[in-house]
Amino acid sequence: MTNLTTSETAKSGKPRAAVPQQSGEPDPLFGSGISYKMGHNRHYENYLTSNVRDALKALPRLIGMCVRLSLRADRRSTYLLIGAQLALGASTAFGLLATNGVLRALLAEGPSPQRVKAAAPAIVLVCLAGVLTSVLTAASTRAQGTLGPKVESLAMTELLESSVRVELLDFQHAEYHDSLDAGQWGAAWADDLLTYVVNTIEALMALTAAFGVLTVLNPLLLPLLPIAVVPRAMSTVLSVKRRNASRHAWLSKSRQIRQLVDVLTTKKTAVEIRGHGAGDFLLPHYRRMQTSYMGEQTRLSRADAKGGVLSDAGYGASLALIYGLLTLLFWKGMVPLSTAGAAAYAIRTGTGQISSMVRNVTYLFQYGLYLTDWEKALQDSEHKAIPSGGTPVAAPARITAENLTFAYPGAATPALRDVNMTIAQGEVIALVGANGSGKSTLALLLAGLYLPDQGEVLWDGVPTGQADRNQLLSNVAILSQDFPRWGISLAANIAIGRHQTPATPELLNRAAEAAGATELISKYPAGWNTLLATDQYGGVDLSGGQWQKIALGRMHYRDASFLVMDEPTASLDPAAEAEVFAKVRELAGGRTVLLITHRLSSTRRADRIYVLDHGQVVESGTHEELMTAGLGYSVLFKMQAAQFLPTDETSAA
Ligand SMILES: Nc1ncnc2c1ncn2[C@@H]1O[C@H](COP(=O)(O)OP(=O)(O)OP(=O)(O)O)[C@@H](O)[C@H]1O
Ligand SMILES: [Mg+2]
Repeated sequence: MTNLTTSETAKSGKPRAAVPQQSGEPDPLFGSGISYKMGHNRHYENYLTSNVRDALKALPRLIGMCVRLSLRADRRSTYLLIGAQLALGASTAFGLLATNGVLRALLAEGPSPQRVKAAAPAIVLVCLAGVLTSVLTAASTRAQGTLGPKVESLAMTELLESSVRVELLDFQHAEYHDSLDAGQWGAAWADDLLTYVVNTIEALMALTAAFGVLTVLNPLLLPLLPIAVVPRAMSTVLSVKRRNASRHAWLSKSRQIRQLVDVLTTKKTAVEIRGHGAGDFLLPHYRRMQTSYMGEQTRLSRADAKGGVLSDAGYGASLALIYGLLTLLFWKGMVPLSTAGAAAYAIRTGTGQISSMVRNVTYLFQYGLYLTDWEKALQDSEHKAIPSGGTPVAAPARITAENLTFAYPGAATPALRDVNMTIAQGEVIALVGANGSGKSTLALLLAGLYLPDQGEVLWDGVPTGQADRNQLLSNVAILSQDFPRWGISLAANIAIGRHQTPATPELLNRAAEAAGATELISKYPAGWNTLLATDQYGGVDLSGGQWQKIALGRMHYRDASFLVMDEPTASLDPAAEAEVFAKVRELAGGRTVLLITHRLSSTRRADRIYVLDHGQVVESGTHEELMTAGLGYSVLFKMQAAQFLPTDETSAA
């Protein structure tokens, strides 16, 4: 059962909203792998330990960051918004001063007609201020409506642009995904931050006016404003902190809940969800996690309600105190009636503005930290990006691995150890070995997508780590073992192989032909325009083998000098498979091919075969040489071949 005990009351018995809530026990569905460490933690701690002064000190930087982002998103709307907001603040302040004039004139001593006459100009000004305020509010709303979505979209776009450049190995890390998650969260809230910046400016100006009015009326009245607002400010700050703490503590579990929603609704799992009843297995986990999450939400609402009642009581008490003081001053003749009346109005307006400012500043700080996460995610991505520049490399005449060793982070043993191999231009090299022996990993290192821990991968003598990697990668085409099934059009599925090349029908058809996919494409009335996504209107789906043919077509379309084919025929029918292998050399047309396969019949035509075992090259040579050596390769080859030889019974028959 989920443990919702909070550490809020654990030790001292006193409520401590700032202490993170337990997010319940980990759901057994996720085993031991997912820890409850979250990317936001650093800010979360920052947020909790920071006091009001730290927060205020951080504000200019956060506001600056928000304004710079807004200017980049839409300069005109940003200026319009800031201008409208400043004018709005001024007009509110002006309205307050005019109202003060009206009250003072009306409450002054003397005959009524005279007082009304004296108040008339101020009344006109109040009306003018009202009209101006509504016009400016409309302008500000419009500018904000235009700017907000642009800011959010720019923040998200920049994050995506930087994340697609991150090194493959870093990209696979939980740490980077924490950062990316936090960054996405920040980008999604960027437009709200803008709202709080804008609201704060407005509240600040109105507040200044209220203080101004009170100072003019009687400086003794000045301290009254802050007194009224303390209880509400405290309750707002506590609520924001409590909710923020909760969000951080629940981030990881929220991610798991999202993941469950994904697997329950995607096509990829649809067969087992129904055929194996996996949905019935997963749904109770989903419900249980949701229930504990709801429990947390209820707890927060209760705490907010309690805080609200207390703060309202405090607010009421402080208002009573303020008006009591005002009455006393009036009673003692220290302030005249006109001043007391105008002061009551200024206090009323001013307390409203202070409450709003405290709320806005608190949110501004909170959302500003989210935007800091976005900025950090961008820097993180930048830092982990495949570097641009380096030694230029062209289509390689020779790719070599020298004492290559590579371990995945956190792995107990290296995936590759002391690997030495040479691939010359135009050769077809086969990599074979048991599952997990390191074939796919070696291919990614030779292709420059991973960098060695020790030893080197050299492209014509240039270590991949020093080469211009983007240039190097433009010479590589990869048909990976788990190739993507892009849910886009057939043409785009091929053309994405090299998007810089205009996708002419000739080029597309040539790629399709090389992959044996011509017939498949002609079957659809929309031809190359066919959409490969059944969850979209008019979309179709392909068979496993047909998808693999499309992936092969994409590889050909890429037209690179080094082709990596990782299990290129795993889903193909025997005829299609035989054709692919028979044509490997012909289709390669002088290109270098690294062929990874478990079909040993297909390795016979390779120029050289490397056999991997637990990350080490244990045999290498031509098929004939390896058969003569009579080691592991020949044993495996004979084992596979035996499956096709007649059994005793069939030969007897
Ligand atoms: N992205 C990764 N992160 C961490 N470890 C990995 C990763 N990919 C593979 N490994 C580990 O590295 C080792 C080598 O894996 P690799 O995928 O290179 O094997 P393979 O020879 O291609 O196997 P298969 O024939 O099953 O495709 C395995 O122990 C595997 O668990
Ligand atoms: Mg593999």
